[in-house]
Amino acid sequence: MAKYEFDKWTDLYAGRASLLRSSAIRDLLSVTARTDIISLAGGTPYTKDFKMKKMVDAVAACMMNQGNEALQYGTSEGHIGLKNHLIRIMADEGINVNGDDFIITGGSQQGLDMLGKIFIEPGDTILVEAPTYVGAINAFAGYEPNVLSVPLDEDGLDVDLLADKLVELASDGIRPKFFYTVPNFHNPAGVTMSRSRRIRLLDLAKEHNLLVVEDNPYGRLRYEGDDLPSLRALDENVVYLSTFSKIFSPGIRLGWFVAPHPILDKIIFAKQSADLCSSSFTQRVVDEFLNDNEIGEYLAQLVVTYRARRDAMLAALEEFFPPETSWTKPGGGFFVWVTLPDFLDTTEMLAEAISAKVAFVPGRAFFADGSGANQMRLAFCYPSPEEIHEGVRRLSEVVKDQISLYHSVADHLRRK
Ligand SMILES: Cc1ncc(COP(=O)(O)O)c(C=O)c1O
Repeated sequence: MAKYEFDKWTDLYAGRASLLRSSAIRDLLSVTARTDIISLAGGTPYTKDFKMKKMVDAVAACMMNQGNEALQYGTSEGHIGLKNHLIRIMADEGINVNGDDFIITGGSQQGLDMLGKIFIEPGDTILVEAPTYVGAINAFAGYEPNVLSVPLDEDGLDVDLLADKLVELASDGIRPKFFYTVPNFHNPAGVTMSRSRRIRLLDLAKEHNLLVVEDNPYGRLRYEGDDLPSLRALDENVVYLSTFSKIFSPGIRLGWFVAPHPILDKIIFAKQSADLCSSSFTQRVVDEFLNDNEIGEYLAQLVVTYRARRDAMLAALEEFFPPETSWTKPGGGFFVWVTLPDFLDTTEMLAEAISAKVAFVPGRAFFADGSGANQMRLAFCYPSPEEIHEGVRRLSEVVKDQISLYHSVADHLRRK
């Protein structure tokens, strides 16, 4: 948190500055950095498992083989060596693209911001899932959209409710600018959109001329079951974003953005005005890393690490959480979404949890309309399985205390 200082520039700010918010998760990071707290809050990948020697080799190879280019500006579209690796990585997901069908971005967060920049005018309607990725809400908010939400269930997006919403909007003469979805191992809900719903979503998109934006940071982190086709693999009109953040490192700040060419042309201009190009250095380091390491093998190791953590979290929830609570059972990714009785408020509960030395992210952050008060996101990516067990135990004590406190107050009021 910045030091408090009287703001003598308030008359100068654009209206949109007041719409920019710190993410609830970023605010929590300073608390969760305390070593005595077990953080089930951040979606922070477990980079300590990373083979540092291999990374040192990749940095050295980068400087030896392409040092001059690594220290220079690069093209706004991205380094072709890295793009060639991505063409193969996407082909594994059934997405067939050429190098000029996508660009490299400063993480997928930059892709979300640029999407807002080229599509959203103040008051435009956009559609998101409920809950949805908090960083997307924040990225779009600066462009002042009217955000409408469509609920999820265990099989991902409720496509029937989306269909109803599209009919309702069309009858009011409103065409939403796009629909933003995280179909695989959703952040925060942990759920995955079923195959039949993917197909129905794309049919609806065709029928209503709706632009679908697929954000897929977690698709390669599957711990059970078979891969499902990505929306972009099924329909070339879909805008597709992904990132190295969860499968490699968020510190290198590299993502990629696939779109139909007319959209991509505008995104390239947005990218040029934002940062000219993504880091030549990190693009070329990752290029060298992928030249020397088999991505499939590397991902397989990550899956083993994260599967053990997912299993530890689900087992601990089963062992400790009271029967009035429920949670999703993610087949991959980083997150479990927990629902408590609706008389509890997880934002209010957070202070108690921090005192009990465990942290989570309260549910409200993930809803454009401020609902989700009795829900919370638990991340199993960073702490060890033992820490997860202990963290969930500590949290369960807080939840049980809050439930019994509620019942004793309710009993007392009834007797009065
Ligand atoms: C769904 C989703 N989209 C985008 C991002 C942003 O990732 P990046 O680090 O690539 O900017 C995240 C990060 O948590 C995410 O969960």
